Amino acid sequence: MTNDTLKLLNQRVSLRRYAEKPVTQEELDTILHGAMRAPTAGNMMLYSIIVVEDTVKKQTLSETCDHQAFIATAPVVLVFLTDAQRWHDYYRASDVAAYCQRTGLEFYKPHLGDFLLGASDALIAAQNAVIAAESLGIGSCYIGDIMEHYETHRELFDLPNHCFPVAMLCLGHYPDDMIRQPRERLPKDSVVFVDTYKQLDTAALEAAFAQREAALPKPNGLKAANFGQFMYGRKTGAPFFQEMHRSIAAALDYWQGGIVDEDKT
Ligand SMILES: Cc1cc2nc3c(=O)[nH]c(=O)nc-3n(C[C@H](O)[C@H](O)[C@H](O)COP(=O)(O)O)c2cc1C
Repeated sequence: MTNDTLKLLNQRVSLRRYAEKPVTQEELDTILHGAMRAPTAGNMMLYSIIVVEDTVKKQTLSETCDHQAFIATAPVVLVFLTDAQRWHDYYRASDVAAYCQRTGLEFYKPHLGDFLLGASDALIAAQNAVIAAESLGIGSCYIGDIMEHYETHRELFDLPNHCFPVAMLCLGHYPDDMIRQPRERLPKDSVVFVDTYKQLDTAALEAAFAQREAALPKPNGLKAANFGQFMYGRKTGAPFFQEMHRSIAAALDYWQGGIVDEDKT
């Protein structure tokens, strides 16, 4: 890795406010090209990207994605879908059913494995977009909340059953006056293991989270006595997380054919 690439990785921060400067079509094309050059399982590109240009849709997303107002102000919004629909449709157009009959193969609809493989593809493409954008001085922020409110997003983007939005990126130029403060990470020995997984005991967990514990404001507004309680209250146990669980389960029902919608098979 060149020093330039390392510098770019070290200086990246999630960006939630943007310079007035627009993202040009050429810059957007470079970002999308970077995304599409990402590695992809079997070179199948089990993903699609929706460029959200409609300001009303951006506004809707800023509400459905846990009321994050900055989404509506982002010059570029990209939604990354896990997408098994294109291949499934192509297989049908290619009369794969007849081929399966001839060869004894099963002609199956997209499974959970396709969902996950497409999610890997989509997220790797998204991260390539992030890096391509950084190289142009364009910052980004992932929005995980795009996995919530599946039914609304299905309607908003006219999604068929075998597409699901796994990530959204908001992008725009870094403001000139911005001082970048890269956020801390967990210590390497709590994340990177050699040869076998190491489940952390209480002492190791306390050591891993000590820095975050020390930075926890007191009081913290969530009646949390420590950082673990704080994060559970703020993230894992929070209503938006429960909505994410519900939404993904609903999407998987469509994906696996539990809910039959002939218009969007
Ligand atoms: C999958 C994923 C989902 C995220 N969702 C959101 C989000 O909904 N809103 C937000 O402001 N930041 C979101 N982020 C950004 C994280 O908060 C950010 O990456 C983290 O705090 C570390 O900060 P850094 O990116 O500046 O290093 C998300 C990041 C990832 C990878």
